[in-house]
Amino acid sequence: MIGIKSLQSLKFLAGYTMSLSPITWTKRWTFILAASGCAVGLGNIWKFPYITGENGGGAFVLVYLLCILALGIPIMMAETLLGRAGRANPIVAMRRLARNEGKSAWWSLLGGMGVLTGLMIIMYYSVVGGWALDYVMQSIQGNYIQADALTAKANFGDLAQDQNRQIIWHTLFIVLTAAVVGAGVSRGIGAASEILMPLLMIILVGLAFYSASVGDFSSTLKFMFNTDFSKLSGDSVIIAMGHAFFTLSLAMGSIMVYGSYMPEDSCIGRNVLLVAALDTGIAIVAGLAIFPLIFANGLEPSSGPGLMFESLPIAFGNMPSGAVVGGIFFLLISIAALTSAFSLIEPAVSWLEQLGIKRVISTVIIALIAWCGGLACVYSSEVFNSLDYLTTNIMLPLGGLLIAIFTGWVLRRVTVRKQLHSISMLSFNAWYITIRFIAPAGVIAVFLNKLNLI
Ligand code: TRP
Repeated sequence: MIGIKSLQSLKFLAGYTMSLSPITWTKRWTFILAASGCAVGLGNIWKFPYITGENGGGAFVLVYLLCILALGIPIMMAETLLGRAGRANPIVAMRRLARNEGKSAWWSLLGGMGVLTGLMIIMYYSVVGGWALDYVMQSIQGNYIQADALTAKANFGDLAQDQNRQIIWHTLFIVLTAAVVGAGVSRGIGAASEILMPLLMIILVGLAFYSASVGDFSSTLKFMFNTDFSKLSGDSVIIAMGHAFFTLSLAMGSIMVYGSYMPEDSCIGRNVLLVAALDTGIAIVAGLAIFPLIFANGLEPSSGPGLMFESLPIAFGNMPSGAVVGGIFFLLISIAALTSAFSLIEPAVSWLEQLGIKRVISTVIIALIAWCGGLACVYSSEVFNSLDYLTTNIMLPLGGLLIAIFTGWVLRRVTVRKQLHSISMLSFNAWYITIRFIAPAGVIAVFLNKLNLI
């Protein structure tokens, strides 16, 4: 329960009316589906396979799994509990929680940083989401049928240079995102996740079976699960750790705001474990769907960010019914990107809403800001790259560190335990030690490395 007194003082301070009954997800499964929709995105299907390729395969996958277990899951539990205890968007939730403990209201700045980070990520994320939509169209048009490496590269180059075409797709991506978020938490995000996530999983598993049957599955298994530590550099460890944060959508309030809609009686530990397992499972299955095609066509697994838009079309273009399979694949990427995009603007929308602006109008305002930022990314790759660099390498690690510190050191142990009431004392203690010591140390290591200080 939220302290009525703190709610009233907040109301008084901000001069707006706020409903005392917080919105919650309608079904038990909705949090799990919405949160896994938020976590599963371009990070899993586009980024994970190619960074695995670049970092030597199996050993990298193992380190990534360790990072998910030791850092990702504990911080995700912390962020969810902050949301549920604060019962609001990140800015208000952080202020409320800090006040309740008699600590500085400046902690709401951490929420503010999260809202801002989400807006910065959506600006370039929606452009890549637009590329995925464009490739659905390219598949329908049969653009890459029997393409060789040069044609496939040229296809992507054409898109990258055609600003108007990118703007059309980016606009459509933002409009779709806004239509869902504007419809509301349960009727929009919840309902869309309930349909799109099962669809995504079915498509992905189908694709993995298909590519295992037509592609080179044994090389894939060897590549992804043969752990040769000699191929693992110090940098790979850091990349694995950074990716664990990005892929679980940690540290910017996405998970916090989704947690704020979680019913009081659901078990945070179990739900977070499930979401992390789904996210990781989907990343692995994405690898199992992509690499067999790459190997069967003699392509390089380490071909970088172009793996999805340059190498895969060659594979699709040269196999039976490739345009159909390719179209389905790019549709899958678009769905994954879309359900993540909801979570990138929801903290900002929910904040405006709490300031008294109607949800639909809040969504339009935020979507317009995101759209303008996207234009800047289309016109300038410098803006695109800086937004990516700033958010992933600086703001997310900083947010993660502060969330761990706030949960482990600022909140009282009883407050935290109350939210994690349904896990055993042993698990709670293990988690508490991790959140106080191990997670901050790990994040500091990522942070320093990204700044090239270690
Ligand atoms: N996790 C998503 C992906 O893998 C992206 C994402 C959504 C995200 N919300 C986020 C990343 C919040 C960091 C923070 O594509």
